[in-house]
Amino acid sequence: MFILLVVLCSFTPKTDEELFIDSLLSQMTLEEKIGQMNQLDPSYESEAKEALIREGKVGSIFNIVGAKEVNRLQRMAVEQTRLGIPLVVARDVIHGFKTIYPIPLGQGATWNPDLVEKAASLTAQEAVYSGVRWAFSPMVDVAHDPRWGRVAEGYGEDPLLTSVMGAATVRGYQQSPMTNILSPVKMAACVKHFAGYSVSEGGRDYNTTWIPETQLRDIYLPPFKAALDAGALSVMCSFNALNGLPSSANPHLNIDILRNEWQSDALLVSDWGSGSDLVPHGLCADKKEAALRCINARMEMDMQGNIYTDYLADLVREGKVQESQIDECVRSVLRLKYRLGLFENPYVPEPDGENPLCYSIESLQAAEQAAVESAILLKNDGILPLSEEYLHAKKNPTVLICGPMADQKKEQLGTWIFDGEAEHSVTPYDAFYNREKPFHILYEPGLTYSRDKDPKHIAKAVKAAKKADIILFFAGEEAILSGEARCRTDLNLPGAQTEMMAALAKTGKPVVLVVMAGRPLTIGREVEQAAAVLYAFHGGTMAGPALFDLITGKAVPSGKTPMTFPKTVGQVPFYYNRHNTGRPTYEPPVLIDDIPVGAPQFSVGYSSCWLETATEPLFPFGFGLSYTTFEYSRTTVEPIADREGFYTVSATITNTGKYDAKEVAQLYFRQKSGALVRPICELKGFQKVFIPAGESRKVSFVLTPEDRGYWHEAHNGMESRVWFAADETEFEAWIAPNSAK
Ligand code: NOJ
Repeated sequence: MFILLVVLCSFTPKTDEELFIDSLLSQMTLEEKIGQMNQLDPSYESEAKEALIREGKVGSIFNIVGAKEVNRLQRMAVEQTRLGIPLVVARDVIHGFKTIYPIPLGQGATWNPDLVEKAASLTAQEAVYSGVRWAFSPMVDVAHDPRWGRVAEGYGEDPLLTSVMGAATVRGYQQSPMTNILSPVKMAACVKHFAGYSVSEGGRDYNTTWIPETQLRDIYLPPFKAALDAGALSVMCSFNALNGLPSSANPHLNIDILRNEWQSDALLVSDWGSGSDLVPHGLCADKKEAALRCINARMEMDMQGNIYTDYLADLVREGKVQESQIDECVRSVLRLKYRLGLFENPYVPEPDGENPLCYSIESLQAAEQAAVESAILLKNDGILPLSEEYLHAKKNPTVLICGPMADQKKEQLGTWIFDGEAEHSVTPYDAFYNREKPFHILYEPGLTYSRDKDPKHIAKAVKAAKKADIILFFAGEEAILSGEARCRTDLNLPGAQTEMMAALAKTGKPVVLVVMAGRPLTIGREVEQAAAVLYAFHGGTMAGPALFDLITGKAVPSGKTPMTFPKTVGQVPFYYNRHNTGRPTYEPPVLIDDIPVGAPQFSVGYSSCWLETATEPLFPFGFGLSYTTFEYSRTTVEPIADREGFYTVSATITNTGKYDAKEVAQLYFRQKSGALVRPICELKGFQKVFIPAGESRKVSFVLTPEDRGYWHEAHNGMESRVWFAADETEFEAWIAPNSAK
C-alpha cells in the first residue's frame, strides 16, 4: 500500500502553476532569488529605489499608489530586468480605500458577514485600479484589552466572530465577482499578525505576550485558519515575542503550524522590520544572526528590514543556509504573483483623470449601510427615534447638535486612513443640516476636539442647550487615539467630555449621547445621565447619514457589542468567554425539561470580597437594543439522527414591537464538567435575521462535535502533547440575544 502511494504521488502531474514556477526558479541566480524576498517601502530615495528594481533586487514594494506611478515602476521590473518578474504592490488598505467603511471593530459590531464581504469587495475594486494588488489586512487578532489601540483594527474579542468576519474580508478582496480585467483574483489579502500580538502586557503595543499552547489554539489561531481556509494568499508575522520568541523567528508558528499542520502555501511576510527587530529584542547579537534565525523559521519576505538583501547570500556561501531554503521562500513569492495574474497582466489600466470606480454610488450606499449596522443602541428611555410620532406633542421642536465629533470629517474615518479623503466624509452635522427632518437644528460644538478641556467651550454648549428641546451630543475619540502604537491607560472619554455631558444633563433637557470611538470606552456615568446612547465607533465616510437615519428612525439599530464594555479600566482584560472560577460561581441558564432557556447568572458568593464592578461589565459581549422588542422562545436541542454527536439547536424569535428590524441570534454553549476547566460560555454560531413587526422566525444551528471540542494538553515528564477533542460530558446550548442572557 505504502509503495503504491509513493508511486502514485510521484506520478501526480504538476500543475501549470508549479511548472511555471519551477521553470522560472531554475533560471534565477541566488541574488535574483534574494531580491524576490525583499519588500521595499517607498521612503527610499527614488534613484536608489529604482536602481534596486532594475537590478532585480526588489520583489515587492509597498505604499506607492496611483496607476501611473505603479506602472512606471512595474515597467522597470518587467522590461528592464533580466527575467522580467513583476513587482507586487502592497498597501495598508484596512477598512476601505477611498470610500472608508467603519473601522473593523465597527464591522464586527454589524455581525453581518455579507455586508463585510461586500465592503471588502468594493474596497478591492477601488484599490486595484490604483495599482494596489496586495492589502495588508484583515487583522484577525482576537483582543481582550481595549487599552490596546489596535482593537480598532480587529473584529473584537471572540474567535468565532473574528473568524467569520476575517474570512468574509478575504473573500471580498480575493473572490467576489466583478468585472475584473486583471485576473480572477482581485487583491491578495494578508491575514495578520501571526500570532498572539493582541495579548500584549498592559495593552502596550508591541509588548510581550505569554500564551499557553492550548489557549493559543483555542482562541488566537482559529481566525487565521479560517482566513486561510477562505483562500488568504498571504500571512504577516507579528512584532511581539510570544512566549519568548518573536514570530519572525518562530519555527513552531511558521513551520510546525502554518506549513505542516495547516498545509498552507500562503506567502509569509514579516511585519515592518520585524526581522531586524530581533536585535533590539535581544534575541540576536546582530542583523546577520537575525537573518539566519528568520530564514530558519521560514519568514519568506522581509518587509523593510534589509536583513535578507544584506546577509542571505553570505549565509548561503558560508554553508549556514541551504539554497533550497531560499527556493522554498521564493516559490511562495512567485506563487502569489502567479495567482494574482501579474505575469500575464502586470499593469493596471490608467484612467484619464480620476479613477471612476472610487466613491461610486454602490460603495457609498454600502458604506452607509455598514455604518448603520455597526452602531449599537446601548440605552433608550424611549426618546429614540426622534420620529414625527415622537415629536408630535412638541411644537416646532429644536434639537441642539453639539460635541467634538459632530462635524469632524477626518476623525470619523478612524485609524489607518492612507487614501480616504476627509472632504468626502459626510458628518452628522452635514446630514442633519441638509436632510429633511421634523425639527429645527441648532449647532454649537462646545468642546472643539476630543481632548479639548476648555470650560468656556462647555459653557457655550450649555447656553445653546437652554434654547433647545433635545440635545444630541456627539462625543468620542479622535482617530489618532486608536490604531498602531495608540494605547491608552484610561478608557474614559478624553478631554472634558465627561464634564460636558454632566453640564448638558444638568440643563434638564434630554441628552442623546452618540459615541464615535476606536474602542469600548468606560462611559458608565454618561450612560446614567443620557436618555439614550448610540455607540457608533468610527463609522467612516458615511457615518453622518447613517446616524441621521438611526436617530430619526429611518433605520433601526441592529449592532451588537463585539467586545465586552468594562465599567472601569481596572476590570480589563475582561471578556465573556473567560474560564469558570471556583469563586465567584456562575449559575448556568435556567433549565426546563433539561433544556436551557437562557439567562446564565453570576452569583458572588463571597460578596464581602468583591466590589460589584469586579464581575459585572457595563455591557456584555453581544449586547445591543433595537427600536422594537424581540422575544425568544425556549431553545430546543435535538440530536440529529444518524449523525453521532451532532445536534440541531433551535429557537423562535418574535418581533413583538412596532418596527421591522434585524436581530442577531447567538448560539452559546457551555459544558458542565470535563478534562479541563472551560469557559463560562462560548459563542458557537450566530445569524442576523430580518423580522417584520409582529412576525416570528425560527433560527436553527447545527452543533457539531468539532464545535464542542477544544485543545487538551497532557504532560509526560518533560514532554507535553496537545490534541483537539470533545469531552464526553453534559452540555448546555442556548440561543440568546447576547452573552449574558
Ligand atoms: C506595521 C503594522 O504592524 C502592520 O499592521 C502594517 O501592515 C505594516 N506596518 C505596514 O505598514
